[in-house]
Amino acid sequence: MAMEANYSLFSPFFFVTLFLGFFITILIMRSRSRVHKQRAQVVLAPLPPGPPRLPLIGNIHQLVGDNPHRILLQLARTHGPLICLRLGQVYQVVASSVEAVEEIIKRHDLKFADRPRDLTFSRILFYDGDGVSMVPYGGIWKQRRKIYAMEMLNSRRVKSYAAIRLDAVRKLTGEIARKAFAQTPVINLSEMVMSMINANVIRVAFGDKCKQQAEFLHLVKEAISCVSSFAVADMYPSLKFLDTLTGLKSKLEAVHAKLDKVFDEIIAQRQVALAAEAAEEDLIIDVLLKLKDEENQEFPITTNSVKAIIMEIFLAGTESSSTVIEWAMSELIKNPKTMEKVQKEIREAMQGKTKLEESDIPKFSYLNLVIKETLRLHPPAPLLVPRVCTETCEVIGYRVPAGARVLINAFALGRDEQYWGSDAESFKPERFEGSPVDFKGFNFEFIPFGTGRRICPGITFGLASVELGLAHLLFHFDWKLPQGMKIEDLDMMEITGMSASKRSPLLVLPKPIIPLSESI
Ligand code: HEM
Ligand SMILES: *[C@@H]1O[C@H](CO)[C@@H](O)[C@H](O)[C@H]1NC(C)=O
Repeated sequence: MAMEANYSLFSPFFFVTLFLGFFITILIMRSRSRVHKQRAQVVLAPLPPGPPRLPLIGNIHQLVGDNPHRILLQLARTHGPLICLRLGQVYQVVASSVEAVEEIIKRHDLKFADRPRDLTFSRILFYDGDGVSMVPYGGIWKQRRKIYAMEMLNSRRVKSYAAIRLDAVRKLTGEIARKAFAQTPVINLSEMVMSMINANVIRVAFGDKCKQQAEFLHLVKEAISCVSSFAVADMYPSLKFLDTLTGLKSKLEAVHAKLDKVFDEIIAQRQVALAAEAAEEDLIIDVLLKLKDEENQEFPITTNSVKAIIMEIFLAGTESSSTVIEWAMSELIKNPKTMEKVQKEIREAMQGKTKLEESDIPKFSYLNLVIKETLRLHPPAPLLVPRVCTETCEVIGYRVPAGARVLINAFALGRDEQYWGSDAESFKPERFEGSPVDFKGFNFEFIPFGTGRRICPGITFGLASVELGLAHLLFHFDWKLPQGMKIEDLDMMEITGMSASKRSPLLVLPKPIIPLSESI
């Protein structure tokens, strides 16, 4: 009987069980409803505002023509810091304020770490996105970033390439000096700087004994020119049919086939050299080939991965760097007082020495500010690299739907008067004097190299050649515009391509000041 009582309706056990059960149920329901409420809030939040859309094409017509980063800056000024465009079937969200970027990068970090997977140039040139920049967020991407950070572009490696860099820059300096004494001394500085950067990167990648250098560079140039024309169609997937329509896709495929063949030849040569242990430097291709042969890698590095990574270094790492030099020189010529100041600093710090070395660079603190100011006004990737939102979430009160493409307008952020003052559009390196604001990805108003997990892994490598190149140009020469051209005539508009370089090349007159020492 006593046992039965324990199970009767009035037994204390029953009440305790009932109470506990009730309590637990309430707890579960409360936490559930909280999740539901959060989800409901996200779903109820409105899409970010944007300009009115046309049927079918949405906002596509608004983005054709001028530079997209400039159009999007104007749209942000009208519609707000987070806007949503509809491009065909796809949502394109654009963030243009520090608060919006902060929520994307800090609060929803992982939901915005992915890249679109269907960019035509990436599919073709990067062997189906098999590099780093277009790899979806996850294990493979982490492995590749580690290779960049530990094996290819860490600061020790970048230092070890100093001799190669110096050689390329001194050749450029010598060439300019020769042209300065020619009959028509106007030089195409944009073109010459690009060649210097190319020479530097190809030496680091393949070594100077590589016979296919010229052919490879020629093909890369051709590929880059295709990619530039792709820009619009690619950023806006619903214009994809344009690729086929214009014949660009087949052109890119043809260039790629040739590039692939040259790659095979170069790889075969390097493998012979590696087997004979005749590799004297840490060429990037050697580093990658050694990793390829390593067993028990969680994600094997294939021959295609090697090719894709090298292709990417050329696409992400050449024009971006030479563009910075081009813009810095343009701004300095446009601002003669600043030019004078930076040249004075360099020439004084050299104390009569005529041969500039990489070890002199840290002495040029104002040059460092000039480079920062150039990156603020002229970020080579004004909209960074496109991201994809992987899970619907709320950003500054708006709903960003899963699958939306996301761009961050670094160009707009660099010119935001709220952060840079009413003179945001002027070139004033002094604004960085004593300021903690840096481009390492933590000050969202200044993110020329991007921010968050996807930040550029080539910062040290890229900056090293920018600093050395600029220092030489400013140390050895004075610069003038060609006869009859005034400062106001300088075209300061960008072109939309692989990077936002100057629309018209920088044509200038060099005047040799510090002679090159004979040993160059
Ligand atoms: C001044 C020169 C350079 C600038 C301004 C620049 C800028 C950028 C920017 C804005 C991004 C996108 C970051 C983001 O999505 O948040 C990026 C990504 C990248 N950059 Fe650079 N870059 C430069 C030089 C280089 C160099 C020299 C290399 C390689 C040798 C390189 C390799 C890459 C790669 C692989 C990515 C993709 C990273 C990822 O998706 O995980 N960049 N860069
Ligand atoms: C300068 O060089 C660029 C890049 O190679 C080229 O497109 C342009 O036509 C050149 N301009 C002049 C005037 O030489």
